[in-house]
Amino acid sequence: MYVCICNAFTCRDVRRVKSQGVSKSRQVYKKLGCRMQCGKCLETIDNVLKEEQSKESFANKSVDFNNLSPINI
Ligand code: FES
Repeated sequence: MYVCICNAFTCRDVRRVKSQGVSKSRQVYKKLGCRMQCGKCLETIDNVLKEEQSKESFANKSVDFNNLSPINI
């Protein structure tokens, strides 16, 4: 899906630069070789960056099965 119409980059592009160390929305433009123009995409870029961070933090969590409570049914 296109995130930035002015610069024609997609969610996939945002995820790619995020994997290269970009964590701030304004850094995304620079990494993709463009500049922010209208700025309407800032919130969407932030959401894509946060979404990816949430997935990573969830994926990196370990579960301690010794501390699970039994469920009474
Ligand atoms: S839509 Fe991204 S700068 Fe305009």
